[in-house]
Amino acid sequence: MSFQIVEQATPRLQRSELAVPGNQTHLFEKAAASQADVVFLDLEDSVAPQDKPKARADVVAALNDIDWTGKCVTVRINGLDTHFMYRDVIDVMEQAAGHVDMIMIPKVGTAADVYAVDMLITQIEMAKSVRKRVGFSLIIETALGMNNISDIASASPRTEALHFGVADFAASTKAQTTNIGGANPDYAMLTDAGPDGRRERHWGDMWHFAIARMVVAARANGLRPIDGPFGDFSDSEGYRATARRAAALGCEGKWAIHPSQIQPANEIFSPSEAEVDKARHILHALAEAQKEGRGAVSLDGRLIDLASVRQAEVMVRKAEAIARRENG
Ligand code: COA
Ligand code: MG
Repeated sequence: MSFQIVEQATPRLQRSELAVPGNQTHLFEKAAASQADVVFLDLEDSVAPQDKPKARADVVAALNDIDWTGKCVTVRINGLDTHFMYRDVIDVMEQAAGHVDMIMIPKVGTAADVYAVDMLITQIEMAKSVRKRVGFSLIIETALGMNNISDIASASPRTEALHFGVADFAASTKAQTTNIGGANPDYAMLTDAGPDGRRERHWGDMWHFAIARMVVAARANGLRPIDGPFGDFSDSEGYRATARRAAALGCEGKWAIHPSQIQPANEIFSPSEAEVDKARHILHALAEAQKEGRGAVSLDGRLIDLASVRQAEVMVRKAEAIARRENG
């Protein structure tokens, strides 16, 4: 192990993250009543420029008036290259600070972008004597942001999660895509010909590098990596496949741009019963070994290493949080 300890961000369930356009007030109550772990009220790209001031006021009112108990509530502010962003931060933080858990910053390009928003929010929290410190969710969705991802990930102690914003990332890198977050048949290779002369076409995941890169930057800084949107909400199998591959790479959750994507995300990003049982057994074996003063811990004839114990603790805590969410 390194001498450097990686501090973990405030633990939260972030399996499913429901996107709600800030000008669609009729969706707010539905989002609060949904099974999504996180709801993000959007002031950025789903709101047209002429609607921004009204959406901002509506979002502030919704933060204060709606019962968000049990939800992690996030507001996506506008980018730092717009003149909307400062007013988003000031109005949300001055008028609804106690009701917002995270501010989501889109299109983060450099560590200084995060620093700037942190400075502004820190001043507001001090001036208004806000007790609850708001967290940050950062969207990595430009070539610049991906290039600077290590510095961005360590820029502020407020940061809890990095998100991969696939649509803007594709635009920024000029990648050729067909649907948001899905596969592209052109990202494929042909195998050599078999005995029958036939060649197979193997599709690849063109987002592998970006997601894997984000996972490393996030985990190295104790943050949660979250996969972004999958646009075709009528393709539930396609959504599930992208969520599973994100989970396989280490992501903790995925956006839902439609309520039908919430349940699959919650299911795919929850540990299975078998995994949780095994984790409980490991912790039980550890407790027994400690009681008996034994240093080495074994289970079913195998030595348990410290990494497994730590993983087991994280998994059991997560399972307990999920049970609390589902029963409460
Ligand atoms: N949050 C909460 N409820 C939602 C919702 C959302 N994001 N999207 C849809 N619903 C509700 C609908 O109001 C409808 O409710 P009802 O059964 O009470 O009538 C139900 O879920 C089914 O919706 P449906 O009719 O299938 O979809 P739609 O045509 O109303 O909306 C979208 C489709 C894509 C426009 C809508 O889902 C949406 O705005 N998604 C978010 C997009 C976004 O935020 N993008 C930016 C980030 S990428
Ligand atoms: Mg975007």
